[in-house]
Amino acid sequence: MPENTRRDFIKQAALGTAAFLALPTARALGANDRVRVGMIGAGARGRDLLKQVLALPSAQLVAVADIYSRSRDAAKQMIPGVQLFDDHRRLLDMKDLDGVIVASPLHIHIRHFLDTLAAGKDLYSEKTMTWSIPEAEQCREAAAKSRQVIQIGLQHESSGELADAKKWIASGMVGKVTQVESWMSRNSRHGEGQWVRPVPSDCTPQNVNWAAFLNGRPDTGFDGYKFINWRLFWEFSGGNITENMVHQVAWIMSALDLPVPAAASMSGGVFSEKDGRQVPDTIAVTLEFPEKDMIVTWQSTFSNSRYGLGEHILGSDGTIEHVAGATEMVTGKSQEQIEYYPEKINRPEGAAAKGETPGQNHMGNWIECIRTRRTPNAPVEIGYRSAIAAHMSNIAYRQKRRVTWEEAKAAKPEY
Ligand SMILES: NC(=O)c1ccc[n+]([C@@H]2O[C@H](COP(=O)([O-])OP(=O)(O)OC[C@H]3O[C@@H](n4cnc5c(N)ncnc54)[C@H](O)[C@@H]3O)[C@@H](O)[C@H]2O)c1
Repeated sequence: MPENTRRDFIKQAALGTAAFLALPTARALGANDRVRVGMIGAGARGRDLLKQVLALPSAQLVAVADIYSRSRDAAKQMIPGVQLFDDHRRLLDMKDLDGVIVASPLHIHIRHFLDTLAAGKDLYSEKTMTWSIPEAEQCREAAAKSRQVIQIGLQHESSGELADAKKWIASGMVGKVTQVESWMSRNSRHGEGQWVRPVPSDCTPQNVNWAAFLNGRPDTGFDGYKFINWRLFWEFSGGNITENMVHQVAWIMSALDLPVPAAASMSGGVFSEKDGRQVPDTIAVTLEFPEKDMIVTWQSTFSNSRYGLGEHILGSDGTIEHVAGATEMVTGKSQEQIEYYPEKINRPEGAAAKGETPGQNHMGNWIECIRTRRTPNAPVEIGYRSAIAAHMSNIAYRQKRRVTWEEAKAAKPEY
């Protein structure tokens, strides 16, 4: 039995038939039916994902829910026939919707995640899976009880480079890996903080449902800057850890089959542009995996982009070098490449190798899994583990000490 099918079978057997019969059911898809998709949160990333769906002949984007009129208008321009909602619950009421893409800000992922599953829809949820550790636990539990197909927006889980790395590691060419070093660097013009977006003149209480954005956060009055630049504030974001480290840590965890870290440390600060942001721009993280005899480090800066981003998997018998030139993983502007180099001391006859596995379309993989009911490339488990690593790091930074998994789990999430 293929691994995905076997996992689904075991999951279903463990849950029992009765539990499944009580769950809402998805629409039965005929062989020629296009998968009908809706989106919650059509901002910058949402609109990228809209384009990805539009490019897939097997899917149809039929509805968008957003609490900001500007985002709804932009979606309508891209897809003239799309149905628009200003409340995600109305979109989830649609009976003929198969799957929902969630691309809302991080602090609202949990609500959209849980509501989508409760409505019996399949889910594509942007990373990081959740804003906090308790929320990650809640989402994982809800996913285990559901029979929906869930893909997390960790698109590098569908990359050919990950398949190459897994293949090399499994073959023994890399040997014992004790350390992985990874980094991500960007730069911006003097005086222009990374990520800062201008606030459009139509970003007003009339055009934005501020209470829905806050989703229970304390209300200190409408703040267009925070609404547009939510990434800069702990209340809504986990900073570059949940924006970028999560992609790379998920990739490393999948390549080496790593569990949740036993401990995390993180130092850094707001050093590049002191523009009122709370989340650090300069970061050094160490994640510990004692049961694997391994540490994983990740560094980032917003004041220098020379070394782009990458991962070095350092093994006793060989090195895997995965780099993306002088740019970053998310936009994928530069050539991404993966190479293997033998450690001559332990593999004297070993030869260097270049990655050659083609990548898969991450969105296409989700759509296909909606049809086949298989497990997608970035299931909840990797969403969960990478979210935990991210939140442990931020907790260590904010508490200014090394934190263990047990301590992080017991910590109360802080704004
Ligand atoms: N996978 C990737 O490579 C990648 C890249 C960029 C962003 N992202 C992720 O995508 C998500 C969105 O980021 P973004 O840059 O598009 O943010 P954004 O602020 O541009 O867009 C968010 C949208 O959500 C809407 N929204 C806010 N609250 C809502 C609610 N309660 N109900 C419905 N809509 C609501 C906003 O009006 C806005 O249109 C984040 O989780 C981010 O980390 C992923």
